[in-house]
Amino acid sequence: MTKRTLIVGNWKMHLNTHEASLLVKRLDDRISLHRDIEVVLAPSMLSLQPLSVQIDRRKFRLAAQNAFYKDEGAFTGEVSFTMLRDLAHYVIIGHSERRIHFHESLETIRDKVQAAVRNEISPILCVGESQHERSAGETKRVIHDQINTALSNLTPEEIEQVVIAYEPVWAISGFGGKLAKPDEIEKAIRVIRSLIKSSYGESAAKNIRILYGGSVDDHIAGGYLSIEGVDGLLVGNASLNYHKFSGIVESAHRQLHKDGPDHG
Ligand code: PGA
Repeated sequence: MTKRTLIVGNWKMHLNTHEASLLVKRLDDRISLHRDIEVVLAPSMLSLQPLSVQIDRRKFRLAAQNAFYKDEGAFTGEVSFTMLRDLAHYVIIGHSERRIHFHESLETIRDKVQAAVRNEISPILCVGESQHERSAGETKRVIHDQINTALSNLTPEEIEQVVIAYEPVWAISGFGGKLAKPDEIEKAIRVIRSLIKSSYGESAAKNIRILYGGSVDDHIAGGYLSIEGVDGLLVGNASLNYHKFSGIVESAHRQLHKDGPDHG
């Protein structure tokens, strides 16, 4: 199985449907089709439907930023994974903004991961420690608890659908935006792969895609992608700027081809 580099733009609670459509148009003009790079856009829930008919599906896929774990019922204000089945390929789950601002527990995140997989939507599971936890030497334990709980209801076949994003809370622009050092990222990703290996075996650990996220922009994207074990990027702020986001996709392309001939 060859892994395609995954570049995800998390637009968070920005852009109305008109602005979202305009951004897609601009990205479409600037980003070329690269077979070995998968570009995913995560607009607001409201924009998923209109964008699903606007995007060139060879170039872009859509992700939801959230959904509720019940398939249907009396849950005022919620949207289920079942409703998103034909609209979104991916869903971001466990983002630190949801863990912190909306108090999502480890168990809620586990149930959302399971509901996504049940509805054939690939979860992009975000994990990462806070500054306080890092300073207390708890990084490994936090990642361990987040991964093991979130994936605890999945079978070895289902794990293939999962993407993991390592996003230290202190590196996310809304929570401080400190730049993570390559060795800090490499070490955390090694911890994640070894957890997958011990629960699901060697080949799952090798095949699972692990992204890095936290203040990534077009200048540093290439550097982050060159870190051992990094299979892609989860981009927040910079994904709202078409110069920056298309620059990130192009640097992913350059990174893949820097040692060999250009295969498109
Ligand atoms: P940022 O956000 O790139 O703005 O730091 C990353 C994220 O929240 O996924």
